[in-house]
Amino acid sequence: MIDLRLDDLEGIGPVTMRKLNEAGIDSVLQLAVAIPDELMDEIGGNRESTSELITSARKTLQENNLVEQEFVPASEALEWRKSILRCTTGSENLDALLGGGVETQALTEFYGEFGTGKTQIAHTLCATAQLAPEEGGLGGGAIYIDTESTFRPERLAQIAEAKGYDKQSVLENVVFTRVFNSAHLELIIQSLAKYIEQNNVKLVIVDSVISLHRAEFSGRGTLADRQQRLNRLLHRLLRVAEIYNVAVMLTNQVISTPDTFFGDPTKPAGGNVLAHASTYRIYLRKSGRDRKAIMVDSPSHPYSETMFAISESGVTDQLSKESKKK
Ligand code: GTP
Ligand code: MG
Repeated sequence: MIDLRLDDLEGIGPVTMRKLNEAGIDSVLQLAVAIPDELMDEIGGNRESTSELITSARKTLQENNLVEQEFVPASEALEWRKSILRCTTGSENLDALLGGGVETQALTEFYGEFGTGKTQIAHTLCATAQLAPEEGGLGGGAIYIDTESTFRPERLAQIAEAKGYDKQSVLENVVFTRVFNSAHLELIIQSLAKYIEQNNVKLVIVDSVISLHRAEFSGRGTLADRQQRLNRLLHRLLRVAEIYNVAVMLTNQVISTPDTFFGDPTKPAGGNVLAHASTYRIYLRKSGRDRKAIMVDSPSHPYSETMFAISESGVTDQLSKESKKK
């Protein structure tokens, strides 16, 4: 991890420096992922000066070639995109649907009804992310942010063992944190940059991303507040993904929209905020004993669908006999 200290930034006085440190920010990377309004709440001052601080951090990253420059020719952007890594899901079908796997520098959202395999995909990725990039992994560990209390280290161990990985080392490189309410989740996302910097983390999982906000902000009149808080949280995740070159995998629930007359009445929860924030959205459905994955939204993939299965080794292509006959 590149060590760019706040002292390297021009124009930060000792008072601002102290306030930033008190707010838990002690590197240029951490400052670059901050959200202006949030930072303003923490260190005082006005919106303009706070935004300037964050912008100067971003500029420093650009000067050091750690993030993309502004107004780059497409040829250079293409070169920059080569730094993106793709993590195998364990299923060639699902990898192909994703264009090679779950990407770094992006938010990949899997949504679907209960039991469609969201949590199983998350567990599998925690293991495969640890493979070297040449082997289809990201060459790093994972953070599992669990809002539903469904993370199971035993299951991760089983997947790792079935794949022939070093079980102990896989378990050691996945940290999990159980989250109790939406404010707690927001706090964890805020301190994510620091954690990633201190540990070799290449994958962040949030399972599930909006269940807590949905449960807590249910009354009328709270929706705008909820969406705004979600928006902040998602934008912070995206910045973290870009700046630290990590993959972010989100799971999301579905809601039923009974006023739909044509087509599928289930939609991902989270409304426009999540729709806009997710780089890739994959809809999961049950299909007999297997699963169907549908690429619903992507800046670069056509609409497509594929089948995969869940087995002892996590996500696989070993479909049941019934699916193969079809
Ligand atoms: P919700 O979180 O409830 O919305 O569902 P989800 O989409 O996260 O579903 P999850 O990933 O938990 O998938 C559950 C399904 O995975 C089960 O119905 C099983 O079919 C399968 N599954 C879970 N654990 C195992 C396991 O150890 N072995 C095998 N073969 N399948 C498993
Ligand atoms: Mg789940």
